[in-house]
Amino acid sequence: MTVALCPGSFDPPTSGHVDVIRRCARLFDRVVVGVVANPSKQSFFTLEERVGFLQNALCDLPQVVVRHYQGLLVDFARQEGAAVLIKGLRAVSDFDSELQMAQMNQTVGGIETMFMPTRPEWSFLSSSLIREVAALGGSVQGLVPDDVAKAMKERFS
Ligand code: PNS
Repeated sequence: MTVALCPGSFDPPTSGHVDVIRRCARLFDRVVVGVVANPSKQSFFTLEERVGFLQNALCDLPQVVVRHYQGLLVDFARQEGAAVLIKGLRAVSDFDSELQMAQMNQTVGGIETMFMPTRPEWSFLSSSLIREVAALGGSVQGLVPDDVAKAMKERFS
């Protein structure tokens, strides 16, 4: 059984994240979505909210589980029995930092990373831009799962 791990902050999850995870679920026996808990960084949504959004968005896929982790990603990957990390690439600008992280994770944890290009219709999306648009009163409907859009609207109204 090949287990893939899709890690991230998911603050909030976007339609691009969900699409990459769904495409991953067609390729691997089991997909673990790892939501990072970073105690030194203030997140917009709580860890529980981020996990809940992803569980709702992926609840029709029995091979996908959503978990959270703290500390080193490679330790979490080992704990989950993941053979590979999957990272979405939106543009070449993502590549520099993702390559660096992939090489570090390979070196310290012996785990491979595979990159999945995002669909072109989601290549402009980022969680930080979603937060900015929503904070300034713009609609993020369709760019994030519906419950995320609703929660953001409520937060800023
Ligand atoms: O969605 P993000 O913020 O781009 O995800 C980055 C993330 C959470 C996958 C990465 O920062 C991470 O795994 N951090 C955990 C700590 C760690 O292992 N750091 C070394 C990475 S090479």
